[in-house]
Amino acid sequence: MLLSGKVAVITGGAGDLGNAMALHLAQEGAAVSLWDIKSEAEAAPQIDRVKSATLNVQYQQVDIRDRVAVDAAFNAVMEQFGSLDIVCANAGIVEAAPFLEITPESWTRHIEINLTGSFHVGQQAARLMVRQGKGGRIIFTSTWVSAIPWPEITAYTASKGGLNMLMKQMARELAPHKILVNAIAPGIVKAGLAGRQLVEEPQYAARVAKVIPLGEPGTPEEIARAVVYLAGPHTAYMTGSILTLDGGCSLFQFDS
Ligand SMILES: NC(=O)c1ccc[n+]([C@@H]2O[C@H](COP(=O)([O-])OP(=O)(O)OC[C@H]3O[C@@H](n4cnc5c(N)ncnc54)[C@H](O)[C@@H]3O)[C@@H](O)[C@H]2O)c1
Repeated sequence: MLLSGKVAVITGGAGDLGNAMALHLAQEGAAVSLWDIKSEAEAAPQIDRVKSATLNVQYQQVDIRDRVAVDAAFNAVMEQFGSLDIVCANAGIVEAAPFLEITPESWTRHIEINLTGSFHVGQQAARLMVRQGKGGRIIFTSTWVSAIPWPEITAYTASKGGLNMLMKQMARELAPHKILVNAIAPGIVKAGLAGRQLVEEPQYAARVAKVIPLGEPGTPEEIARAVVYLAGPHTAYMTGSILTLDGGCSLFQFDS
């Protein structure tokens, strides 16, 4: 048990990657607070899944765009568990559209959720951790396409590029407080956002079939195990890094 006695918050905890993160953190002994924009009833299967690993589970319906709601949700974590050690700022969206067809509304949604929402969560987490005075871990969910353009997701890649810089700024400024800030960069995972695109967008599935050197999409469990690594004792000297698990996608597998 690497994380006994630790308290973790996971945003997007009712989604595929976030739920796997919560389960794996719980299996290592952490108490977990799942946050998601979904209602508790909608999230019931994901909550039950985590309860199979620990009884120390809290669910909060939170829209991370709402700063007042984010601050209140952190207060509720402190009330129930009395501590905050690990925060996975993982909630995110993607809405595919060719560049010429992106609407201002869709652009704004990506920035507000993927970037500003992550800022709200990261800043309030850091403030609480500084107040506690015992350090902490903040882990953002970025993506392999945060530094590499991929067709028809400009708003998404731009928001995640900003997220990488948010992570690095925080890592730099929070290091004196022993708050370690890193990001996980999944590749194409056969679940969640990409899982839906694989089913709903034939042009996406056709592209994916050609770009993964290791041959197939990743799994939420692989990402979750890496998050446990970033939350645990083996990465106590790691901050400001992006841990990429993309099956080699960013190595550019050109047709030969
Ligand atoms: N699936 C992939 O292949 C993949 C690859 C790289 C990165 N990611 C990243 O992983 C993260 C999780 O995505 P996923 O693939 O599990 O998708 P998902 O849709 O299964 O999970 C995302 C969750 O975020 C929640 N959410 C959306 N807007 C929210 C808001 N305003 N406030 C609170 N919660 C909100 C959704 O309800 C959902 O449960 C995202 O940041 C995504 O960019 C996913």
